[in-house]
Amino acid sequence: MTRTIREFGVYSELHPHTITAEDIKNMNAVGIVLSGGAESADKAAYEIDASIFDLGIPVLGVAYGSNLIVNNFNGTVATSSDEADTQEISLVGQSKLFAGIDHTQTVLMNKGHAVTSLPEGFVSIAADSKGAIVAFSNEDKQIYGLQFHPEAPQSDHGKEMLRQFVSSICGGKDSWTMKRFIEIEVDKIRSQVGDRKVLCALSGGVDSSVVATLLHRAIGDQLTCIFVDHGLLRKYEVESVVDTFSNQFHMNFIKVDAKKRFLDKLAGVTDPEQKRKIIGNEFIYVFDEESSKLEGIDFLAQGTIYADIIESGTATKEVIKSHHNVGGLPEDMEFELIEPLKALFKDEVRAVGAELGLPSEIVNRQPFPGPGLGVRVLGEITEAKLEIVREADWILRDEIAKAGLDREIWQYFAILPDIRSVGVRNEKRSYDYAVGLRAVHSVDGMTADWARIPWDILEKISNRITAEVDQVNRVVYDITGKPPGTIEWE
Ligand code: XMP
Repeated sequence: MTRTIREFGVYSELHPHTITAEDIKNMNAVGIVLSGGAESADKAAYEIDASIFDLGIPVLGVAYGSNLIVNNFNGTVATSSDEADTQEISLVGQSKLFAGIDHTQTVLMNKGHAVTSLPEGFVSIAADSKGAIVAFSNEDKQIYGLQFHPEAPQSDHGKEMLRQFVSSICGGKDSWTMKRFIEIEVDKIRSQVGDRKVLCALSGGVDSSVVATLLHRAIGDQLTCIFVDHGLLRKYEVESVVDTFSNQFHMNFIKVDAKKRFLDKLAGVTDPEQKRKIIGNEFIYVFDEESSKLEGIDFLAQGTIYADIIESGTATKEVIKSHHNVGGLPEDMEFELIEPLKALFKDEVRAVGAELGLPSEIVNRQPFPGPGLGVRVLGEITEAKLEIVREADWILRDEIAKAGLDREIWQYFAILPDIRSVGVRNEKRSYDYAVGLRAVHSVDGMTADWARIPWDILEKISNRITAEVDQVNRVVYDITGKPPGTIEWE
């Protein structure tokens, strides 16, 4: 819902039900949407501050949110099932919410939800085929309730209703663009930082790259970026990061070659979680050591985005303590945090990156785990194995891009399992590695479906890998969803 409203060019934020009317007033909100939820309609599972209805700000309740309105104004709701399905509805009367919208339409709704008694001052504005109330309003107070889901693609005119609420009823201005976001953030960063200095850990991922570029636009040489090359990145990635930030943007850019250090620490380690821990800790040690060589840094810039905040369910902490189990930094050293992307969704972050002039390979980079190829070489990691997976991965990426599938598939990569099998090469028996290929469609990485890559493209990839990558004589394609598999193999 938050995302849909932003698509209209109107800024919106998601807040927990515990937000107070006072908070809403202080943020100068022009409208409130009480969203749907998994709880049964007649239960007040998520109680809200009832004074939000006295703020004089228009309120739209959707599904569960609409029931909160009914309950709050002493009406009643009955539910016989929570199963969602499409239904035909007809509009009744002349609500502002439905101005210009077709009289009869299909919507997605939880079956068996109905307002059995409307609160005083409210009227029905839509009904299902049996005449049950599915939408209601109090036009004077500008309070609206929809028992169905306008944000669902199955609801024919749902988006128009939301737009009507946001733009016509709330008067939301069509001013939320990434260009404008950059202007506002640049001003904010300049006034927050003044003439002080900021440090940024650049990983080459989308979020840290966009943060670094935004800060550089705001404060130029007052920003220093540290890029730790742990030797677990994909082919050409290090070169791309150096070229973009050092050569094109001319940032204060420190590249730390820590490849040997990471490999030494990982030698003989086979357990995936142990590998993750070593890589994560080593990264912090290297970063702390490098930053301790710099003087007068007051701020640390981080690529926290809106999803991180929503997922953690908490506001971010304002101050972090540097890890003090490493030499270099004083134990009580504190950085103030700068997180300019924390209000943005991932696709907005990408749009900001593109607006700032970052290359497509960075802006549209697929998700890549922090421990990198370290969890794609199964079992013990060696330089030789990293080289195999890096080459195979490059061929896969190259062919996926040539086939025009790179923006269609959410994540695709090669894995090197710790197994060898018998094959034939140059008419001789070979005993070489098998490479696994993984390509998945997903929205957020929580669930995934394996991508149906056309067979002729898979054939080309397999032929190239076995021909061009030493010590590989077999290629397998992973056709497991998540669940029961995970996206990565470790
Ligand atoms: P799984 O394998 O759990 O992956 O299905 C879901 C998403 O998370 C990424 N992933 C990681 N990202 N550190 C990260 O930063 C990790 O240790 C890690 N493990 C998995 C994975 O690439 C996928 O996008």
